[in-house]
Amino acid sequence: MSMRHDINAPILQVVGLSVRFETPLGLVHAADDVAFDIYEMETLALVGETGCGKSVVASAIMQLLPGNAVVEGKALFSKMDLLKLEEKEISRVRGNEISIIFQNPSLSLNPIIEVGEQIAEPLQVHRKMARRESHQVAKGFLSRLGLGERSLMRMYPFQFSGGMNQRVMIATSMILSPKIIIADEPTKGLDRALARDVTSEIEKIMDLTGASLLLITHDISLAAMISDRIAVMYCGEIVEMGKCKDVLREPLHPYTCALLDCLPERGFKPIAGASPSMIDPPQGCKFHPRCPYKTQECMQKQRIRKIDGDERQVRCWQY
Ligand SMILES: Nc1ncnc2c1ncn2[C@@H]1O[C@H](COP(=O)(O)OP(=O)(O)O)[C@@H](O)[C@H]1O
Ligand SMILES: [Mg+2]
Repeated sequence: MSMRHDINAPILQVVGLSVRFETPLGLVHAADDVAFDIYEMETLALVGETGCGKSVVASAIMQLLPGNAVVEGKALFSKMDLLKLEEKEISRVRGNEISIIFQNPSLSLNPIIEVGEQIAEPLQVHRKMARRESHQVAKGFLSRLGLGERSLMRMYPFQFSGGMNQRVMIATSMILSPKIIIADEPTKGLDRALARDVTSEIEKIMDLTGASLLLITHDISLAAMISDRIAVMYCGEIVEMGKCKDVLREPLHPYTCALLDCLPERGFKPIAGASPSMIDPPQGCKFHPRCPYKTQECMQKQRIRKIDGDERQVRCWQY
C-alpha cells in the first residue's frame, strides 16, 4: 500500500459531519463534527468501540440512514456533495464509484440467487453488459479470490461457508472497480485464520483495482495490519488521527492510549468507567469522566487540532 497523498488531492473529503437520531428517548448524538480525507489508493481505518458511531458515518456518506436521522455537513466526492444528492444520483454513486462491504454477508446476499449471478448483476445493471460476458468477468473475480471452480458460480449462498460468502460479497462490491470501498467490520464474527484470509483478499483486490479503502473496525490489530492512517472515534467524535505507525507507536489522546492498553499484547487492561450515553453525552471532552489526566479545562470542548504538520490531529487539551 502506497502513501501517495503528498501529491494527490483527496478523493473524498468529509467535513463537519454530524448525525442525530430522533428517538422517543431523546436525540441520539451518533456523530459529531466528524472530518477526514481519503486519498487515492490509501487505506484509512476508522476505529473505536462498538456503538461509537462508525457505521453511522459510513451510512451517512452513502445516504443509507433511516428517516429519523438528521444529517449535517458535507461529503465531497468528484465535485459533488454526496449528502445533497437526489436518490437517483446517489444510487449511481453507490456500488459504481463507492461501494460498501457490510459486516454480515447473510444480510446482503440474496439467498435465492446463484452467487455467480449476484456478482455479475451490477455489470448488467450499471454497465449494460450482456449476461454471458458479465458472468465471464464474475468468474475471473471469483478465481482471483480463490474460488475458481466453474461449478461455484451456480451455487447458492447457503451452500457456502461464511468465509466463502464473505469473499462473494467482496467480489460483488469490487466488480465495478469502485474508486472507494467502505468495508464495515469485514472480519467481525470470523475466526482469526479466516479473518486473516479475508484481510489479505481485501488487500489483494485493493492493490489490483487501485481503489481507496475506508476500513471500519473495532479491531485495532486489523487496522494496524492494513491501514496507512488511523482515525480513532469515541462517542461520535474523532479524537485522534494520524499515520498508522505513529498512532500505534505514540498514541496521544488518553482514549487512544486506553484503547491500545486493551490489546492482549499490551496487557489486556479494560478501560475504566462506562461508555457514555449518546443521548446525554458528557460536556466538554466526552472522555473526561474516564480520563486519568483530566483537568478543569476538559469541561470545555476542544476542537480537533493539527500538530506536527498536517499528518497528526488530536482533540485533547494536553496538546
Ligand atoms: N436508526 C437509529 N436510531 C437511533 N439510534 C441509532 C440508530 N442507528 C444507530 N443508532 C445509535 O447510534 C450510535 C452509533 O451506532 P453505530 O454507528 O452503529 O456504532 P458502531 O458502528 O461504531 O458500532 C449507537 O448508539 C446506536 O445505538
Ligand atoms: Mg458498526
